Amino acid sequence: MNMMSFESNRARSIKSSPSMAVSMAAKSMRAKGEHVVDLSLGEPDFDTPDFIVEAAIAAMRGGKTRYTAPDGMEELRSAIVAKFKRENGLDYAMDEISIGNGAKQILFNAFLGTLEPGDEVIVPAPYWVSYTDIVILHGGIPKIVACGVEDDFKLTPERLEQAITDKTRWFLLNSPSNPTGAIYTHDELTALGNVLDRHPQVSVMSDEIYEHIVCADVPFTSFAIACPQLRDRTLIINGVSKAYAMTGWRLGYAAGPKSLTKVLNKMQSQSTTCPSSISQIAAAAALNGPQEFVTSAVAEYKARGALVARGFSAIPGLEVRAPEGAFYLFPKCEPYIGRSTASGTRIANDTDLAAYLLTEGKVATVPGAAFGIEPYIRLSFATSRDNLSLAIERIGTALAKLG
Ligand SMILES: Cc1ncc(COP(=O)(O)O)c(C=O)c1O
Repeated sequence: MNMMSFESNRARSIKSSPSMAVSMAAKSMRAKGEHVVDLSLGEPDFDTPDFIVEAAIAAMRGGKTRYTAPDGMEELRSAIVAKFKRENGLDYAMDEISIGNGAKQILFNAFLGTLEPGDEVIVPAPYWVSYTDIVILHGGIPKIVACGVEDDFKLTPERLEQAITDKTRWFLLNSPSNPTGAIYTHDELTALGNVLDRHPQVSVMSDEIYEHIVCADVPFTSFAIACPQLRDRTLIINGVSKAYAMTGWRLGYAAGPKSLTKVLNKMQSQSTTCPSSISQIAAAAALNGPQEFVTSAVAEYKARGALVARGFSAIPGLEVRAPEGAFYLFPKCEPYIGRSTASGTRIANDTDLAAYLLTEGKVATVPGAAFGIEPYIRLSFATSRDNLSLAIERIGTALAKLG
């Protein structure tokens, strides 16, 4: 007898977030009393700064508890316009801003509102786990271009050119990158933009959500600054989740030409109407307020980034590129593939390796396969230095036991 499935073909075409799945496995081991170091999740381990929380409480007490316009409250949009001017030197008008329940919803709105079935989206790999599934969900075809550690995890102009077809609608760029921590320099962005000059059918989505989290001497450059000539087909995506430790508040934003933000806002109006009014006020406070929290959090990420780069480089067989930004390390682990555990199980790929590191080493990581490239593991260093030192020791010991 055929059991009825509730799942549509569209839902079946994508998977649940793999990094969430690893974190859930780690949580259930913890619930059984095991001590697990969780390096699987991409969120700051700090609390949201007090002044932001206070702004939210005042908003609630002040009756700012109603639906807002889909494109957001005026105070938030003007805070976003001011942020782009102050921090990036970019001029956007109020109607060139769009907001969503996290940068993730901005991506949903953008692809929902612009993709025709069969349109292609160029996504350099490794990529943030959700990009390809969000593209597929909206009828697009991700065109994945592998950029491994040997390429410094960056797409070259030549390979961008090769990936473009008549069906290419978007090029999706993420700098600083999740999962590699790579940052594109101004010149590298300019070179990519020069390719796009020749292909007017291709627009650019530049996910700049980690812009403040810079660990190395490479300064962050917004794509819109490097390629001003592409302004009319560039969508800059950002949000308060990472910079202000506000992942649970769900507030992301974007800037682009009015003809595009209008489409995003229309999608927003028929999905969640608007992000929470309280989160909007909190985000405005974050953007307008003192930025000391960001500075001190970044100093801590910097120290942690150096610690993990040093620690994991010292483990034989791991190929490490020190992160320039964000809070991830993405070592290549080729020599460990094909080896066997003490109980005789073969490690066939990086998914097996991450499972082994969790069960044997009690450290939760995310396999490279989740980010579209193998064999790698992603380690988030948004956790304490003590946890990181413990993870280095445990992973080193577990890997050394592989025969
Ligand atoms: C590269 C990248 N873009 C977007 C997001 C989504 O952020 P938000 O919390 O604003 O939805 C994440 C979260 O992990 C991310 O790593």
